Amino acid sequence: MSKPSSTNPRTRIGLIGFGCVGQGLFDILERQPESGFEVKRIAVKNPTKLRPLPANRFEFRADELLHDAELDILVEVIDDAAEAFRLVSLALRQGRRVVTANKAMVARHLPELLQLQREFGGTLLYEAAVCGSIPVIRTLDSYFGQEPLRSVSGIFNGSSNYVLTRMSEGGSDYAEALAEAQAQGFAETDPTLDMAAFDPRSKAVILAAHAYGLLLNPDDVLNLGIENISPADIRYAAERGQKIKVVASLQPLSGGGATVFVTPQLVPADSPLYDVEREFNGVVVEAEFAGQHFWRGRGAGGHPTGSAVLADLVALRNGFRYQYDKLSGATVAEAPELELEVYLRNAPEGLQHALGVTNESGEIIVAAAPEGVLGYISLNKLHKHRDALRAAATFVAQTGKTRQAVAQPTQLATELVAE
Ligand SMILES: NC(=O)c1ccc[n+]([C@@H]2O[C@H](COP(=O)([O-])OP(=O)(O)OC[C@H]3O[C@@H](n4cnc5c(N)ncnc54)[C@H](OP(=O)(O)O)[C@@H]3O)[C@@H](O)[C@H]2O)c1
Repeated sequence: MSKPSSTNPRTRIGLIGFGCVGQGLFDILERQPESGFEVKRIAVKNPTKLRPLPANRFEFRADELLHDAELDILVEVIDDAAEAFRLVSLALRQGRRVVTANKAMVARHLPELLQLQREFGGTLLYEAAVCGSIPVIRTLDSYFGQEPLRSVSGIFNGSSNYVLTRMSEGGSDYAEALAEAQAQGFAETDPTLDMAAFDPRSKAVILAAHAYGLLLNPDDVLNLGIENISPADIRYAAERGQKIKVVASLQPLSGGGATVFVTPQLVPADSPLYDVEREFNGVVVEAEFAGQHFWRGRGAGGHPTGSAVLADLVALRNGFRYQYDKLSGATVAEAPELELEVYLRNAPEGLQHALGVTNESGEIIVAAAPEGVLGYISLNKLHKHRDALRAAATFVAQTGKTRQAVAQPTQLATELVAE
């Protein structure tokens, strides 16, 4: 990259948010002056907070940056998804170039954000929103824009992965491992978004747009987490030569579209995800012609996330925008009733009946409540009873095996009697 000069001036950045990611980006740009970016204005929220830069570098009305025509690119890295959407959509209405790291905001509002870009000519990039420094969005969007993908899967949340690693290494229980992750700065004080898999669900929804041309409502995607895991579950996996990981899974449907869900999974030793440990993320893409690709990298932290924002800044300066090639041609098929093979522990009998757990032959099976049971459950029923599973302290992990729904003998018998 050529050094900035009077004929090649620096690209001026308006930075909104100066927390973990904002400071990470700022530090990277300070260390890399030859990148040609300069942070001109910084907006934050709290006027009384101590800052690592002189007070005169900060201002407190982010809207003013949106109206500053001297700024070439706006970087939105605040921790408030509703306010982020307001700011980013206002900026796009002015046809501006914007980078965000806010996955919850992008996942929930992608259709509107696309519409605003079409209508007003601005550009929004968000590589940092999914798996931090792993360049997955641009690769799916551009490199694999025309190639069918057999699956996209991965570990998209470093906090829960850290807890799982500590539980399997150290024999700690969930509460101890979570406290350690919080002390190390790998988990938030309110761990629900990470541990109950809301955060990786947002990331899966974003990838579904680029990989399969699907604009999904996050609420329609099943997310099960690890809040109810116990050392017995870790042992169950270890005895089978497996590890439990929270895996986001995107699989195409034959008529178009894809099935997307995020659940704990029993991962075998020959999976690339088996060795993704601690706060690391991993992504596996099975492409029709390219075969298997696997990335492992840091999904969070100031510098890794700042690195992804820097990559977006360079891309914007070069005139890049996402192509969303698969979006234009996507036709969404009626999803067939998919059943997942799951390991289910501590499910009350009533809940097992409601879930309709079946064996290989499709016969209903019920285990004594605290016991683990292996059986098939429809994805829709898992989704419908997600909150009941969480409330009953039930742990669910899928094995990776799926099948189309089979008629249950009891149901069949009832139907025959009714006729
Ligand atoms: N942390 C990571 O590793 C990571 C990784 C990937 C993506 N992300 C995403 O990146 C975004 C930022 O995360 P973070 O960890 O950097 O958050 P953070 O450390 O909590 O910092 C948030 C920053 O936003 C500022 N802010 C909040 N509301 C504002 C408003 N209305 N106007 C101006 N500034 C405002 C805060 O101001 P004050 O300083 O005054 O409080 C603070 O500087 C989030 O969307 C997060 O999901 C984070």
